[in-house]
Amino acid sequence: MSDIDVELGRRKLDWAREHMPIHAELRRLYGTLRPFAGLTVAVGSHIEAKTGVFIETLAAAGAEVLFTASVAATTQDDVVAALNEMDGIEGFARRAADTDECEANHDLVLERGPHFILDDAAELTARVVYRHPEQVGAIQGVCEQTATGVQRLRAMAKEGSLTFPAYAVNDTPMKHYFDNVHGTGESSLANLALVTNLLVAGKRVVVAGFGYCGRGVAHKARGWGARVTVTEIDPRTALRAHMEGFEVLPMSEAVTTADIIITTTGNRDVLRQEHFECMNDGVVLANAGHFSVEIALGVLQALARSEREVRPGIVEYRLANARKINVVAGAELVNLAAPTAMGHPVEVMDQTFAMQFVAALHLLQHRRQLTTGVHAVPDKVDREVAELKLATLGIRIDCLTAEQQRYLDVWRRNDISS
Ligand code: NAI
Repeated sequence: MSDIDVELGRRKLDWAREHMPIHAELRRLYGTLRPFAGLTVAVGSHIEAKTGVFIETLAAAGAEVLFTASVAATTQDDVVAALNEMDGIEGFARRAADTDECEANHDLVLERGPHFILDDAAELTARVVYRHPEQVGAIQGVCEQTATGVQRLRAMAKEGSLTFPAYAVNDTPMKHYFDNVHGTGESSLANLALVTNLLVAGKRVVVAGFGYCGRGVAHKARGWGARVTVTEIDPRTALRAHMEGFEVLPMSEAVTTADIIITTTGNRDVLRQEHFECMNDGVVLANAGHFSVEIALGVLQALARSEREVRPGIVEYRLANARKINVVAGAELVNLAAPTAMGHPVEVMDQTFAMQFVAALHLLQHRRQLTTGVHAVPDKVDREVAELKLATLGIRIDCLTAEQQRYLDVWRRNDISS
């Protein structure tokens, strides 16, 4: 008998729905019009309550929604069960799924020939292109929500294998200014603190990468009282970190004094053998980048004389030099895969998924004008979601006067009548 608590899943959805006012507005606007009626939409993402509200909003807008996990470890089975009770929604995800099962779930979704893919890290898009070419013709478009996925889509476009339009939703201001910076920043630190039960204040925290996520983590860690060092490979970004008051060092130097190291690069082997060998005793390592490749865990495991789970979600590796290295959540995303994790704050995902929704709608309405390849989401669409969000917060802003607009539109100062 299954021990999945469906009622708990329903309540998790209730709580998320309560705090996702943009989605409530989208359901109000499109619940009657049902623009996705007759279309199958595949959602690949972290399957938990906020994603659930996004999925039910797509279904309310008429779509047949098939969902699957972009990363199995972040799946909440009770939410999957609660979603599977709903009309027009079918899920293929399980937290305990291994890589084979996870890929088989992706196949089950793709074999149904979805018209749209709303993706996270281009997992479904890459799989349909390379493993299910027979289904590619059905695809009208893709919306991609994360930095790693956009990077992958651009690589696919470059090699000529992207034969449909894709919107880089990650690159919209309404997504990355908030989700990557505040969402990743707050939820990574919060989960790190919960899973370790250790103080962040006064610690030496190293943040690898000072992109959107890294900036968020670095600033929030400083706000919590940590002494923060940044590592980078881009000279301008490193300079930016320096000018924002952070110490900037190569990782080989930063590791020697670090108490906590958080990777946020989207790159592999950011922490590797040469770093493990000179880390402080008791250092805590966590990853907030999309894939569990940033910390070379296999190398650490091979170096370790022993390993044990010291707390739920933390494995301690003891090296030959007797130093202990603690890895949180198996080097998977600390804000999503740690035992305490619930992902980004609800309000942030209200924005991110609203961007996925409106980008998909725009794709649907303009697909005949769009060429194949990766496109920016039109600024107008982004602004509309920002306006919706401000309205839900009761925040009002100024409008340009006609004179101000004219002043901005012309380049000659003398053209402006006084
Ligand atoms: P970004 O492209 O803005 O930043 C990445 C930064 O890492 C860049 O500044 C780059 O120069 C730097 N970098 C690359 N290789 C490096 C290395 N070896 N050492 C030091 N720095 C290096 O990307 P963004 O938006 O910050 O995303 C980073 C990762 O986080 C991606 O994998 C993205 O998918 C993921 N992500 C995770 C979220 C979460 O919930 N944990 C939410 C949003 C994104």
